[in-house]
Amino acid sequence: MSKLIIANWKMNGSIEQIEHDLSIYAKSVYTNNPSVVLAIPNIYLYLAAQIQNKLGAKFSLAAQDVSKFRNYGAYTGEISASMLKELGAKYFIIGHSERRTYLNETEDSLVHKIDNTLNEEIIPVFCIGESKSIRESVEYRDFLENQLKTLLKVKSSFDKLVIAYEPIWAIGTGIVPTSEQISEVLKLIKAFVQNYLPHAKITALYGGSVSGGNASEILNLPEVDGVLVGGASLKPGDFVSICTY
Ligand code: PGA
Repeated sequence: MSKLIIANWKMNGSIEQIEHDLSIYAKSVYTNNPSVVLAIPNIYLYLAAQIQNKLGAKFSLAAQDVSKFRNYGAYTGEISASMLKELGAKYFIIGHSERRTYLNETEDSLVHKIDNTLNEEIIPVFCIGESKSIRESVEYRDFLENQLKTLLKVKSSFDKLVIAYEPIWAIGTGIVPTSEQISEVLKLIKAFVQNYLPHAKITALYGGSVSGGNASEILNLPEVDGVLVGGASLKPGDFVSICTY
């Protein structure tokens, strides 16, 4: 199965960088033929879609957030799922620990955002992950299952669902869990989906300090269907080497 590799640029980039990096990705051919997705700041999606059309689509686009309000209305500053769809977003990242921590993303807003995007056939990339102190307690599996239970509150049905395991202690730290730790959580995720959302086609990702040096080992684990890449996705050379894992 083709692996899914998502670049999470977070709040980084510029028009110049989008034009430069995307022209490289449009030309790149990867032996293992992964599906490459670029989650760039929402404001650049339209530009990226134009580059994609002009140079031939070798990647898909993802949004990094969406309004919890549906369609159109008096919500100053908000961008709806239907607008993101129009801009070319096929996926969107939801539940990232940075947004849960710094933007007070609540379960209620997660559920609304997922519902709104499913309604527009945008695939959610739902992130879960525990802190270092929770990892060191015996309850980290319960904590992760509780995060997954948010998905059971979504009204729309899931056709396709991407879930990314991103331990907070691995994000941007250079620390990567052992292969056993990654496999254990991805098995937990797949068992949860099988149990509660059996009609969803699940793609399970790992994210947190993925680099050109460790991508091959991680992507070759049987439970790993892909990776979510932060820092290393900002350097096209590094990102290309991850995609050629
Ligand atoms: P990182 O970030 O690759 O820089 O650790 C991953 C993420 O936050 O998605």
